[in-house]
Amino acid sequence: MKRSILLAALFALLWQPAKADEGMWLPSLISQRIADMQAKGFKLTAEDIYSVNQASLKDAVVLFGGGCTGELVSDQGLLFTNHHCGYSYIQRHSSVEHDYLKDGFWALTQADELPNPGLTVRFLERMEDVTAAVLKGVKEKMTEEQRQALISRNADKLKEQATKEGNGLRASVEALYYGNQYFLFVFREYRDVRLVGAPPSAIGKFGGETDNWMWPRHTGDFSIFRIYAGKDNMPADYSVDNVPYRPKKSLTISRAGVKEGDFTFVYGCPGSTQEYVHSEAVRYIQDVSDPEKIALRTTRLNIMKKYMDQSQAVRIQYSSKYASVANAWKKWQGEEKGLRKNKVVERKQAYEKRFEEWARGTRYEWLTEMLYNLYVQRNPIYRAYEYYLESVLTIEKLQMVRNGRFNMKDYYQPIDEETFVAMMTAFDKALDDSYKPEYFLQKRAEYGSMEAWKDALFANEELAKELNQAFSDFFATQLAPQVTEFNKAINLRYRDYMQGQMEFENEKTFFPDANLTLRVAYGHVEGYRPVDAVYYTPVSTLRGIIEKDNPEIFDYNIPQVLRDIYARGGFENQPVCFLATNHTTGGNSGSPVLNADGQLIGINFDRVWEGTMSDLAFDPEICRNISLDVRYLLFIIKEVGHADYLFQEMKFAD
Ligand code: ARG
Ligand code: GLU
Repeated sequence: MKRSILLAALFALLWQPAKADEGMWLPSLISQRIADMQAKGFKLTAEDIYSVNQASLKDAVVLFGGGCTGELVSDQGLLFTNHHCGYSYIQRHSSVEHDYLKDGFWALTQADELPNPGLTVRFLERMEDVTAAVLKGVKEKMTEEQRQALISRNADKLKEQATKEGNGLRASVEALYYGNQYFLFVFREYRDVRLVGAPPSAIGKFGGETDNWMWPRHTGDFSIFRIYAGKDNMPADYSVDNVPYRPKKSLTISRAGVKEGDFTFVYGCPGSTQEYVHSEAVRYIQDVSDPEKIALRTTRLNIMKKYMDQSQAVRIQYSSKYASVANAWKKWQGEEKGLRKNKVVERKQAYEKRFEEWARGTRYEWLTEMLYNLYVQRNPIYRAYEYYLESVLTIEKLQMVRNGRFNMKDYYQPIDEETFVAMMTAFDKALDDSYKPEYFLQKRAEYGSMEAWKDALFANEELAKELNQAFSDFFATQLAPQVTEFNKAINLRYRDYMQGQMEFENEKTFFPDANLTLRVAYGHVEGYRPVDAVYYTPVSTLRGIIEKDNPEIFDYNIPQVLRDIYARGGFENQPVCFLATNHTTGGNSGSPVLNADGQLIGINFDRVWEGTMSDLAFDPEICRNISLDVRYLLFIIKEVGHADYLFQEMKFAD
């Protein structure tokens, strides 16, 4: 009796699950999480997720175009991703006669599918812990430079080995946990990827910037591509002779739908997170970086908006630029708020206190203090560096003289002139003169005002070239090298601090920060409370689209065909998007969202604004990923695209 109580107590102490649903796990190590996944409802095995011996779910997931994820949904290479991931390709095929962005696009036969030069997809062939091979020959007494040089030689050898077969094989060696572990990733890259279908933007981008990062959400954010291969099923340059790629694995689609509490997992390529950084790094982001960058972007967005509201032509010219400026702008606002509300800095400081007590007398003893000091020394120059990127570098005139291939079709000078004055003024005000090029100080004195300088510069290309040169030189010789030095020193400390954290909390399973490698995140469908007394339920429907519909508001003006379909009746409860607790980030766009049986139920495309601090600290109460319900995709294909012939090659579970 006594013994069993003791055992139970011991067990409770040892068995500390990772905080609910936090984590982006390496597929090849998923066996470490599989018991927890199964306890939460998952019905498959670790081998079903990742295997090198048999086809597994990993073979149905690709890195799409270098920054998004896509998934295979037929044995003929059919692929789903987001509309915003396919956007630039859809745009390139669009013209006044064929406005696929506005009207959507549906290839009636495979011969009608549109090639996209430059677009590639990567399948993960295998991944492997190569820490020993990468660190081979590394000695304690080496300088950091010698060590890094040896590591990259070792890594190059491994990559060469892994890709000698050719056939589109690509390899990379990635440092995980700040260089405490190294993994080799071997991919096969396909380079003939064709556009099959896309909804009208009024569906694929429904809600636009207004709804971006928000719930309730009703965006039909999908597009459809097909991978082509040579007759041997291997990667090939585009050719009319290529044939649809036959994947090792394609996903089965479930139409059973989701409800609160259902197990979900996301299989994709998250880009970047910083979950283990020092409190001072978070404080800097919260108090300095985010607020300053937000303010600069607010200024730029207001300028763009003013001119876009005055002219339809300017709106078209700047809508894509506006969207990309607004995307991070809105994310940072949620992040700053979330960090404060969750007291992430204070919580990290408390954690560091406990760590320091534990570390006394060990080789980890002074790490937190050293990191703190490094940040304090780095912050002023880093601030100048960031400020430069977000202000001066956004002036299009300077971009124009810098790179020859500037797109004049989407340029409207009055916006740029006003931006010039606003950004140069902000830059001048925010920073000490020691962070400005000598040329800047001279011209500032010479012209007396930014207005006068602007008039001269926009009338004389030489002045733009001079200014660009002065800034580029200053950046390349002062800002960038200093920041690089600090980052090196900081990352070196993190190598030890990471190891220290893993020893300090040795009962916890750590996941490596995201780095665009394939990961599994798991959680469940759940709503959330954005503020007191409000609960957001997790599933949105077509009814909500009709409620938002307004021909006067660009972001909410739906195609007439959708109104007509709705008016016919019977589609009020058509699901559109859903929320879940999966830990995701940028790069997870287009990722398959799977149910307990590994069947496709949705496509990930966003997170809620209140939870975007999950890149630094995940809070299960408020962090939610937003997915397109696959049933809405099927609905749009059939009812709007009349392209349900595509269903013939898909596999349905129900
Ligand atoms: N917020 C999503 C992401 O980070 C969607 C961005 C594209 N959509 C938009 N309205 N800008 O990529
Ligand atoms: N929209 C993001 C992407 O393009 C995903 C949203 C996020 O940051 O979670 O990857």
